[in-house]
Amino acid sequence: MRVAIHQREGSFSRGWVHRLRELGVDFDYVSAYDNDVISKLQNFDGFLWHWHQGDYRDHLIAKPLLDALGRAGKKVYPRIETSLYFDDKLAQKYLLEAIGAPLVPSYVFVDFDKAIEWARNTDYPKVFKLRGGAGSLNVKVVKNLHESSALIKRCFSRGFPLLDRVESLKDAIWRWRRDRSLDALWLVAKRTPRLWIRSKRERLLPRQLGYAYFQDFVPNAAYDDRAVVIGNRCFCIRRHCRPGDFRASGSGLVQFDKEIFPAEMIRSAFSVADAIQSQSLALDYVYRDGVPLLIETSYGFTADVYYSCQGFWTRDLEWHDLPVNPEAFIVDDFISHLETK
Ligand SMILES: Nc1ncnc2c1ncn2[C@@H]1O[C@H](COP(=O)(O)OP(=O)(O)O)[C@@H](O)[C@H]1O
Ligand SMILES: [Mg+2]
Repeated sequence: MRVAIHQREGSFSRGWVHRLRELGVDFDYVSAYDNDVISKLQNFDGFLWHWHQGDYRDHLIAKPLLDALGRAGKKVYPRIETSLYFDDKLAQKYLLEAIGAPLVPSYVFVDFDKAIEWARNTDYPKVFKLRGGAGSLNVKVVKNLHESSALIKRCFSRGFPLLDRVESLKDAIWRWRRDRSLDALWLVAKRTPRLWIRSKRERLLPRQLGYAYFQDFVPNAAYDDRAVVIGNRCFCIRRHCRPGDFRASGSGLVQFDKEIFPAEMIRSAFSVADAIQSQSLALDYVYRDGVPLLIETSYGFTADVYYSCQGFWTRDLEWHDLPVNPEAFIVDDFISHLETK
């Protein structure tokens, strides 16, 4: 057995390599960006690629490439079912409504007039989001019709960049305030000139326009809970909001104690992941009157934070006091599937 990996700094690839070495499985690196990637992969039984929402190349080719390989019978991670809806909150509305997942009521408009008519007749506050992005950078609260109609006008005219440079600098400043570390200071220094000069990578990301996406605002949510389902395991983190802000994702204020996560949320996470047939799925929940409501899902994420989880639950909701390593879990499931093929 031989598997190929697309390597990327800061992605699952480092942990995959570590686990494959532990298991003694033969592997090599193949770049998904090579023109002859399909022929190169002929010599492998499987291909793993942690594609990322911040790279325009991944947006362009990841889904068709992985789907093409899957159709040709190659074992891939992520399978098309796993990542088809990744970094696309707009598309997730349809998926999650269709499978009856407990999604926070969400609204998608692809016509300016329909969006404005809705904005005039709805109640406030609402949450406005772009379809893509992470770390809360593209998420705003909208207090009234004045604010929502200004956003809708922009959605159907010049649109928005996928990377909000002001929010991105604010995020770096927040990290500096929180950590007071050299790394955090370096991030502020790097992001400040980005206010005026956009990187090539940024310029190539698709501009966001032609749609408007809103969600009902769930009030008084001081945190969101993220459950990650990989195979028969579910591990959780609680992310607290930044002070004076309703947004938790990207705050880095994380809690791991297993007692705090309601069984209903874990049950829901397993059931949504099963309906999607996702090899890995992170599900973000907020609570309204104690009821867990989904705000988004992602197949991929930054793995390091989960190493601090104390263990995981299985589908029978039994707790297992075992180390959590998302990359190893993905590889273990991948290899065992290859072996049973
Ligand atoms: N509908 C909502 N009601 C209340 N808070 C929300 C809602 N949607 C998002 N949030 C808050 O904003 C944060 C970022 O939202 P999310 O949609 O998960 O964006 P991102 O993709 O940037 O993580 C969440 O972690 C949550 O704390
Ligand atoms: Mg999120």
